[in-house]
Amino acid sequence: MAKEERLICQSSDLVSGGVGVRFDVERTDGEKAPGFVIRYKDDAHAYINRCAHIQVELDWQHGQFFDDDEQFLICATHGAIYSPDLGVCVAGPCKGQRLEKLLIEEKGGKIFLLSE
Ligand code: FES
Repeated sequence: MAKEERLICQSSDLVSGGVGVRFDVERTDGEKAPGFVIRYKDDAHAYINRCAHIQVELDWQHGQFFDDDEQFLICATHGAIYSPDLGVCVAGPCKGQRLEKLLIEEKGGKIFLLSE
């Protein structure tokens, strides 16, 4: 099946360690789930906005996914710390677990969500 792509945002909307962009993801079962995209160093990364500890959204304030040092993603509820590029929890109550990564592509100054 061909990959479908959906525009999420402009590349210029994201700076490394800065505010992320939230969007909805349509799952294969038709359910909607919250997603977000951030930039870390040169690359954009997108995940389902759901902590691996308890199924709550990570950001307390919309789009605020990074910790104060802008090096890790942090869950606002109990402080789980995730690597921004892999989505692996490196510290906190769900250490070793992962955020669900979403497939994206950045091209022509835009970021697209890819789906089958
Ligand atoms: S809900 Fe995210 S660390 Fe507990």
